[in-house]
Amino acid sequence: MGAVILGTGSCLPDRVLSNHDLEEIVETSDEWIRTRTGINTRRIAGKGEETYRLATVAAQRAMEMAGVIAEEIDLIIVATISSHMLMPSCACFVQKELGAVKAFAYDINAACSGFLFGIDIVDKYLRSDREKKILLIGAETLSSRTNWEDRNTCILFGDGAGAVVMEYRDEARGVVASNLCSDGNLWSLLCMHNAPSSNPDLSLADHPGTHILMEGREVFKYAVKAMEGAIVDLLSREKVDLDSIGLMIPHQANIRILNKLVSRLGIPPEKVFINVQKYGNTSAASIPIALDEANREGKLKADEFILVCSFGGGFTWGATLVRW
Ligand code: ACO
Repeated sequence: MGAVILGTGSCLPDRVLSNHDLEEIVETSDEWIRTRTGINTRRIAGKGEETYRLATVAAQRAMEMAGVIAEEIDLIIVATISSHMLMPSCACFVQKELGAVKAFAYDINAACSGFLFGIDIVDKYLRSDREKKILLIGAETLSSRTNWEDRNTCILFGDGAGAVVMEYRDEARGVVASNLCSDGNLWSLLCMHNAPSSNPDLSLADHPGTHILMEGREVFKYAVKAMEGAIVDLLSREKVDLDSIGLMIPHQANIRILNKLVSRLGIPPEKVFINVQKYGNTSAASIPIALDEANREGKLKADEFILVCSFGGGFTWGATLVRW
């Protein structure tokens, strides 16, 4: 049938930052954060936990589960918006760390939707070259791009990485289809600027800094409607009933977005995997981390449909259906 996930892995930094810890940093409260976002704690990277290092450990765990060694990997794709360097890519650092000598490697940027968009890329690679083994990773250290004085945003994000090893299998499972969308007109509602330009003609008169900027209410509104639309369209196109979904794994943005999405779709809440309370919003890493946790907890059942959806800066959003 298509691209099958052979193994999953994840890696979270050791340091836990609680809502109470945040009360010491900005004017906020545990109660406000919990009721508005559903987040209790998030992980924050420390020394030696750069994005590529978290990505490498997540990849090693996924390869171990898949029974695949680094030398067998043909391609490494990392979805990230917070690599420690702009060039080389995070994926090249992962290739070096793993010793994946045969692999070519590059990053993709679709913000929080990066991993979902990556699944579609991998699916297409594998359909045209069935011999390949591909490592797809979502990895972020957004703590390095967070404005720790802005209580509107600094409470939301966390660091981590998740990975999958994928291969083509002539079996009735794997990626079924994706429905991916973008709207660049809405870029300014959720964005992160580059370092100031050294070309005066291209520099902004008022550079806002290199951290995440967000219009929270607008993001909220679009996120719910956009993911709902992408899911409904995908399921109707594929003639798959919502009742036949075994588990939905959404991007872990915040609990209110997820609750609203779940109630609009009418999917039973027990069929939705949620871990945002532990890790906050880890952007491109959130789906593969959740996928790995669900997998290791035995929540992904052979032959069942897994529905994955995301929304992020761009705007970018979409839904993907996988038969496990
Ligand atoms: N602690 C205490 N008060 C706060 C905090 C905080 N951390 N942050 C904001 N407030 C205050 C505001 O200043 C405002 O005060 P005011 O009324 O005196 O001006 C008040 O709380 C209400 O602010 P709103 O922004 O209206 O709060 P809202 O109920 O909309 O919740 C939130 C804010 C949680 C950001 C919400 O808009 C949201 O969930 N948006 C989605 C954003 C998101 O998830 N982004 C992630 C990236 S995109 C993605 O991954 C999908």
